[in-house]
Amino acid sequence: MTETTYSAELLSELLEIAKTTAVAASNLATQMRSPGIEVAATKSSVLDIVTEGDRATEQLIKKLILERRPDDGFLGEETGFTPGKTSVVWVVDPIDGTVNYLYNNPNWAVSIAAVDATHLMMHEELTTDPEVSKILVGAVYMPSTRELYSASAGGGAFLNDEKISGPFVGTDLGSSLVSTGYPYTADARARWSAKVDGLVDVVRDLRRLGAASLDICFVASGKQDAYIETKIRPWDWAAGAIIATEAGAVYRIANLRGISDPVHIVATKDVCEELTEWLERV
Ligand code: IPD
Ligand code: CA
Ligand code: CA
Repeated sequence: MTETTYSAELLSELLEIAKTTAVAASNLATQMRSPGIEVAATKSSVLDIVTEGDRATEQLIKKLILERRPDDGFLGEETGFTPGKTSVVWVVDPIDGTVNYLYNNPNWAVSIAAVDATHLMMHEELTTDPEVSKILVGAVYMPSTRELYSASAGGGAFLNDEKISGPFVGTDLGSSLVSTGYPYTADARARWSAKVDGLVDVVRDLRRLGAASLDICFVASGKQDAYIETKIRPWDWAAGAIIATEAGAVYRIANLRGISDPVHIVATKDVCEELTEWLERV
């Protein structure tokens, strides 16, 4: 496979597009939320919902990005994969945390990444193994706190204009604040909850935020120490993954006994090791 090289100018252009588009899109989603919003349809299960806010926000993101870079590819949660002619594919979750959005719970975000197209795997999956994957830039915007998390390959991670790298408070599993999420389908949910049953007894405490992109950015910015979840999709994690790794955290995707889909583990190196061992053991 031939490697594409990306100039600093191109990375900075992509990062600027990701950041400005995430903020613009969040304004539309917020406006659409204010009179109240309903479930428009369900997807993988009755718990997996979409609203008109998700659909309109993705349409706006696609339009804004393709106006600036018409030949790039696009993979969005609501519109699927549109191949492009360049080596760049945009990976977009218009509203990550739709259930929170429905309830007017502030934990939702717009998540936008640009990735190297040669690393977009079959079945729309991505990998963050540095040998085989290349996430170029990522932006995650949380409108309720006006926090814009962003990163570009080799350029560090930022929260608004400040460089971030933790602080990573927990030094081992026992002192770590850990978050997780639960799959929407009944079988996968039962298997995952059985896997993490008991975790609360060995960590500082557990959280369930309801937005994977924020879970990951919260590790990057030191608002919690670790995040684990299975059955998440590229649009949930691509932007967060570059933000977390550029902030100095480890982003691991592991196959674990009893869990059919890969498990994403984000933490500092030591906590990641301990958490992986614990998850493998139970
Ligand atoms: C979901 C959220 C949630 C996670 C689910 C995702 P959505 O995304 O990130 O925290 O547990 O796996 O699907 O459906 O709100 O975009
Ligand atoms: Ca999502
Ligand atoms: Ca979504």
